[in-house]
Amino acid sequence: MSDKATLEINGEKYEFPLIKGTENEVAMDIKSLRGATGGVITVDPGYKNTGSCESAITFLDGEKGILRYRGYSIEELADKADFLEVAYLLIFGELPTNEQLEQFHDDIKSHSVVDDDVKKIIDAFPKSAHPMGVLSSLTSALTAFNPSSVDVNSEEQMYNAIVRILGKFPVLVSWAMRKKQGLPLEYGDDSLGYVENVLKMMFKSPNKEYEQNEILVNALDKLLILHADHEQNCSTSTVRITGSSHAGLFASLSAGISALWGPLHGGANQAVLEMLEAIKEDGGDTKKYMAKAKDKEDPFRLMGFGHRVYKNFDPRARIIKKAADEVLGDLGVEDPILDIAKGLEQEALEDPYFVDRKLYPNVDFYSGIIYRAMGIPVEMFTVMFALGRLPGWIAQWREMRLRKEPIGRPRQLYVGETYRPFKEIQNR
Ligand code: CMC
Repeated sequence: MSDKATLEINGEKYEFPLIKGTENEVAMDIKSLRGATGGVITVDPGYKNTGSCESAITFLDGEKGILRYRGYSIEELADKADFLEVAYLLIFGELPTNEQLEQFHDDIKSHSVVDDDVKKIIDAFPKSAHPMGVLSSLTSALTAFNPSSVDVNSEEQMYNAIVRILGKFPVLVSWAMRKKQGLPLEYGDDSLGYVENVLKMMFKSPNKEYEQNEILVNALDKLLILHADHEQNCSTSTVRITGSSHAGLFASLSAGISALWGPLHGGANQAVLEMLEAIKEDGGDTKKYMAKAKDKEDPFRLMGFGHRVYKNFDPRARIIKKAADEVLGDLGVEDPILDIAKGLEQEALEDPYFVDRKLYPNVDFYSGIIYRAMGIPVEMFTVMFALGRLPGWIAQWREMRLRKEPIGRPRQLYVGETYRPFKEIQNR
């Protein structure tokens, strides 16, 4: 294969280098396009064909249904690693040794207290506030209580910012939930593992000891691993582009949380459960909802189905579907919406509309069913996604800064009015 691509514009030929990734993916390097052609740009709404960066963190092959973090398959990581090991792997590039993992966890724990004044901010939110809005605001507010900028040339400052947010974020997650439930805002317990600590902070009742449940710990650990990174998705691209202006880590993360919130992205897990509930309330007629999803006049979409990149089964959905069966079985929970979900999946897999468009269940289709069985309220589902995605966002932000990427600033094709003289108000 040639290492150059040729483009002809108005009879003039331009050559652009073809570059290859380690998995043999090919990209046309068009950095010189505008300069060489005297102003021609590319237009690609939704960036369906545009690579925004080179990255060594996550590989995904949407045709084959492959997902790997730093070369390790998601199946093996979900089976053999814990969330903190995966966080270390994503951020620093290698699986940690025992000592490195212990040090990492100790450093996170030493930063797991949030300034008590942050409680005053949370107090000002109405109980009806969505926890994603609260989480995004509090993450941004942390900049006011911590060094707001990081000297990225200092390994130490970068490391400190990373362990600080990994320590404080679960506290904010638990506060976002407890505020809604009118429960006192707790701090964590240093004697516990990262995920155990999250669960205790979320669920500890003020008048009872909290008892850990291994089933919940393992289920949450797996869910967080499966959500930990997914290369240049909407929220991650938001984190990278926000950070590309040299905005600090916490500010960039806050922007990413807002991007994750939408129902086409992380907000889909809440939307899936609400959809399954609505179908149940409506008598469980899955065929009716399949017809709605296919009707182009109807804005309804089958939430939890389809993916920009996967044109095959989302490998995370396979693992989560199996986990949903196991967790509900282990907890002795019978949830009729699991049957509705399986029914919808079966129908979609046999329906030409979904088959032709390669629409398969994605990560969000079954995750909410597990969260619900764990006792997590539906409005917290996307917050749990954010907790899982945190190491991925950090890793991508760090990579972007270390690679000294330029500020993200796309071009546009202007299609508005051409010059017109100002019209005085009395003449309009
Ligand atoms: N239900 C019905 N039709 C769909 C669906 C769906 N869930 N998803 C895509 N389509 C159709 C769409 O109408 C279009 O049909 P046509 O070619 O006839 O116009 C075709 O499939 C291609 O869809 P698209 O919207 O152009 O694809 P996209 O790559 O821009 O969007 C998506 C990907 C995930 C936004 C979309 O599939 C969707 O809205 N899914 C439902 C929301 C969801 O589950 N989101 C979670 C994504 S995974 C986790 C995450 O990223 O956070």
